[in-house]
Amino acid sequence: MTTDYSKKATNQQIRERFDNDTERFSNLETGQQTTIDAPLTMELCTEAAKYTNPYATQLLDIGCGAGNYTLKMLSKIPNLNCVLNDLSMPMLQKAQERIVPQTEGTITLIQDDMRNLNLADNHFDIILAAATLHHLRDDDDWELMFNKIYKALKPGGSFWVSDLISHDSEMIKRLFEDKYGNYLESLGGREYRQKVFDYVNYEDTPRSLNYQLELLAKVGFRSIEVLHKNSCFAAFGAIK
Ligand SMILES: C[S@@+](CC[C@H](N)C(=O)[O-])C[C@H]1O[C@@H](n2cnc3c(N)ncnc32)[C@H](O)[C@@H]1O
Repeated sequence: MTTDYSKKATNQQIRERFDNDTERFSNLETGQQTTIDAPLTMELCTEAAKYTNPYATQLLDIGCGAGNYTLKMLSKIPNLNCVLNDLSMPMLQKAQERIVPQTEGTITLIQDDMRNLNLADNHFDIILAAATLHHLRDDDDWELMFNKIYKALKPGGSFWVSDLISHDSEMIKRLFEDKYGNYLESLGGREYRQKVFDYVNYEDTPRSLNYQLELLAKVGFRSIEVLHKNSCFAAFGAIK
């Protein structure tokens, strides 16, 4: 079955929304409000990275936004060399401003679609991707990215994801969408719920946890771990 992505937001439309939203992604204590368990998943992904690669020196943060995940990572492993990728230059600038005082390592900014990243083989100890892979569209996009990430990691390096997920069964998908709707309503009422659902429908194409775990195995990761799942959000990762 082929899916029609033609009515989904383009990269330019996604970038423009995030260009104007840097403050919302700049709270290290709360993380992102629309993500269920955001502080917990940020903590788990960065702890998992620290336990797996305690002597890490090279970090890549894909779709880094205003830098929350990199900042949290630096609080556990200081002075990492950080490569920050995002579509949005205001996000990258905000991330740089916040990260410069926190590391003596190098900071490299790459403003581009993650699909275009040209990364050295066997280079990174840790790769993080939080609330961003759900912007990938068809199977080729997902496979391209997971392959790219696998190749860019050193043997023993690790990749950690916290993201919006879908579900393979339509009934279970509906169950968790309803639960997420209730969560959003508890934060900001019916209008807020509708606003978030509207931009998710327009911009996002998340994949199920099963799909992503299978793809991690397919591209070659040797050890795959689920850290957390609550409703339509999950944190997971893999070791090369
Ligand atoms: C929801 S924010 C999350 C930011 C950050 N990772 C965090 O957890 O705080 C998603 C970020 O992904 C970026 N983004 C969206 N599509 C992207 C793409 N194709 N390539 C790179 N970055 C992308 C957006 O510009 C935005 O800054």
